[in-house]
Amino acid sequence: MILRSKGYVILLAAVSVLLSVIYYQTLNQCDRSPASLSASGNEQVSEIQNAINKIYHQVDQTIPKTNFTDIMKSSSAKQSKVFVKYPKDSYCVGDQLVLQVDMFDHLGQRKTYGGDFLRARMSTRELDAAASGRIEDFKNGSYHVHFILFWEGTVDITVFMMHPSEGASALWIYRNKWHGYVDHVGKFETPQQSIETVCGFDLDRSKELCEYKDERDEEYFYCIKPENFSCNSLSTMKSWRRHDRTLFTDVEKGLFNESNVRVKIPKDFDQIRVTRCNTSVPHSYKTCKIGAKLEYPSGYVMRNVWYPKGCKTLAYNTLDSLSKCFTQKFIYIFGDSTRFYHSTIMKITGHVSYWAWMCQRI
Ligand SMILES: *[C@@H]1O[C@H](CO)[C@@H](O)[C@H](O)[C@H]1NC(C)=O
Ligand SMILES: *[C@@H]1O[C@H](CO)[C@@H](O)[C@H](O)[C@H]1NC(C)=O
Ligand SMILES: *[C@@H]1O[C@H](CO)[C@@H](O)[C@H](O)[C@H]1NC(C)=O
Ligand SMILES: *[C@@H]1O[C@H](CO)[C@@H](O)[C@H](O)[C@H]1NC(C)=O
Ligand SMILES: *[C@@H]1O[C@H](CO)[C@@H](O)[C@H](O)[C@H]1NC(C)=O
Repeated sequence: MILRSKGYVILLAAVSVLLSVIYYQTLNQCDRSPASLSASGNEQVSEIQNAINKIYHQVDQTIPKTNFTDIMKSSSAKQSKVFVKYPKDSYCVGDQLVLQVDMFDHLGQRKTYGGDFLRARMSTRELDAAASGRIEDFKNGSYHVHFILFWEGTVDITVFMMHPSEGASALWIYRNKWHGYVDHVGKFETPQQSIETVCGFDLDRSKELCEYKDERDEEYFYCIKPENFSCNSLSTMKSWRRHDRTLFTDVEKGLFNESNVRVKIPKDFDQIRVTRCNTSVPHSYKTCKIGAKLEYPSGYVMRNVWYPKGCKTLAYNTLDSLSKCFTQKFIYIFGDSTRFYHSTIMKITGHVSYWAWMCQRI
């Protein structure tokens, strides 16, 4: 797609943030689940819709279908436990470390289904080193966390319950139901005047609308067309979350109580000591290539440097060498939380023009 105007670029940037989770929707149909889609007509399913359906069903399978009405029967981090699955006296750099997480509800009953949103980290403060663990869900209330012991030292491990499975399930259900959690306002500008109008994925079709579509990704976004402004004069987009509008029941809201979000699960062990045993780990990795598939955990960070597993990145140790690398390059950033990358790149390079901040599909 050719980006003709600055406004369009900004719009795409704003929209893409919203699109970083897969969504599907048609204009007058709020239900975003692909299942409802196939029921809505016999039209040919496009390649991208097939891909979306596949991912949707993959995610859907990880979400337990339970009938949850009692918060006491939701997962409780405090009641749950973490232990080392195959404990050893000593660990070597490069070893795998497997933890088991057993989840319990607030009443101390074993959970019998999976879907809890867990997050596991290993870190060594003195080295400024950290890595993530891969979570394996047995769908019976037990999980394994797979770590690779990337570095030598004393390693701290933390497993968080980010959300109980009941919360993850509620989020999934309502994300597929409607677009009502975020409001959008677009600003249309000409040299003489400007005006703001409502934008969104589902707008009243009886009004005259501007349609902003990404044909490649089959993504559609709309604004109510202001009188005497062309659709091309859309310049900026403001979006914000509506906390006052929700489909959650009161019980479900309780799941997202701050005291229930990102809670450490107690573990029955202390630190893990890792030594560089005599096994020599080969370090003649090839340089990382764009598009290479990374396994998870895909690497670790140490003293602000990311070390991917299985390949090596080039290091730019001076700002000059980094600036040289950026020179005459377009930087495409796509997805959530990209403002951080933008400001960091701007800070590092200083002279990178605004146009480097273009948003495009990778
Ligand atoms: C789920 O719970 C509701 C309310 O308690 C009940 O009416 C409904 O029949 C239950 N559904 C299933 C599938 O158990
Ligand atoms: C959960 O499933 C795993 C893998 O199938 C099994 O090893 C474990 O014993 C199960 N745990 C319970 C409590 O059923
Ligand atoms: C749009 O332009 C027309 C013709 O110049 C004018 O009559 C009308 O009042 C304008 N409408 C608005 C909302 O400014
Ligand atoms: C949130 O949790 C706190 C502490 O556990 C509790 O006092 C409070 O009532 C809870 N709020 C809601 C809305 O459940
Ligand atoms: C490690 O290698 C050194 C020399 O190669 C040897 O002396 C030492 O016994 C080895 N240690 C272990 C634990 O194998």
